[in-house]
Amino acid sequence: MDLSDRAVLVVGGTSGIGRELARRFAAAGSTVAVGGRGAEALSALSDEGFGTFAVDVTDGASVARARDAVLAAYPELDTVVTMSGVMLLEDLRDPAHFEAARTTIDTNLVGTIRVIDAFTPHLLERGAGTFVTVTSGIAFLPFAPMPTYAASKAGVHAYSEALRAQLDGTGVSVVELVPPAVAVAGQEKANPRALPVDVFATEVMGLLARNPTPDEILVEGVLMHRWAERDGTYDDLVAQRSQALDMLLPGRKG
Ligand SMILES: NC(=O)c1ccc[n+]([C@@H]2O[C@H](COP(=O)([O-])OP(=O)(O)OC[C@H]3O[C@@H](n4cnc5c(N)ncnc54)[C@H](OP(=O)(O)O)[C@@H]3O)[C@@H](O)[C@H]2O)c1
Repeated sequence: MDLSDRAVLVVGGTSGIGRELARRFAAAGSTVAVGGRGAEALSALSDEGFGTFAVDVTDGASVARARDAVLAAYPELDTVVTMSGVMLLEDLRDPAHFEAARTTIDTNLVGTIRVIDAFTPHLLERGAGTFVTVTSGIAFLPFAPMPTYAASKAGVHAYSEALRAQLDGTGVSVVELVPPAVAVAGQEKANPRALPVDVFATEVMGLLARNPTPDEILVEGVLMHRWAERDGTYDDLVAQRSQALDMLLPGRKG
């Protein structure tokens, strides 16, 4: 895709990967608007020159209001990025985890569906455009400390595939961004293997710029997750990654 003349909305663009990609699209020449809940972050992004829209993806009325405001300001909108997400740790032996599970599904999976539903009529009417959904390497290689997160992202992957099939022939494409661990907001120390967000964004923009744009945006660092099952490394990697449970459930085997 040509990144220099898009009209892009990044829902979940107030921080982290979404904010970095919003800046990259703008730097490439596209018109960019950003959505999210954080008023201070939205105000700072407005000062940077972005269109900003308050939206809570767990609230259908909020999504509808934001959609109306975005389309009034950007009738030429052609790209919608569904970046909003939460990553929560859960101890499944503690029933209190359920609130985290509900929030995770409502934000990551149902929130994605709400945003897509809100903008599908507009993109179909245009007969051209792109949804960029956001999953994770964890959608393909579960990470036991974040069970509902993995389920939500596997769900967004499956949903993206069905959406792509249903929109085939309409001119509206569906691109799934599959990040590996990316260091946002000082997470470099928590996971030294996480990719710096600027390195990740550069690779992502290079893949998005390909013509045709691949259905899945897979940076080098996520290939081991994406293809673990095909490569026969799945069981070993799941077991290895489950060692991280020691932090969450100390003494779990004792
Ligand atoms: N960083 C990683 O290692 C990694 C790896 C794989 C996938 N991902 C995915 O990448 C996406 C961005 O994550 P990030 O790491 O950049 O984290 P982040 O900095 O916490 O960004 C999350 C974004 O989601 C928005 N958001 C959360 N709840 C929302 C809600 N109810 N309504 C609207 N917006 C909401 C936040 O905005 P407000 O708080 O302003 O609402 C923020 O803009 C997520 O979908 C995440 O699952 C991240």
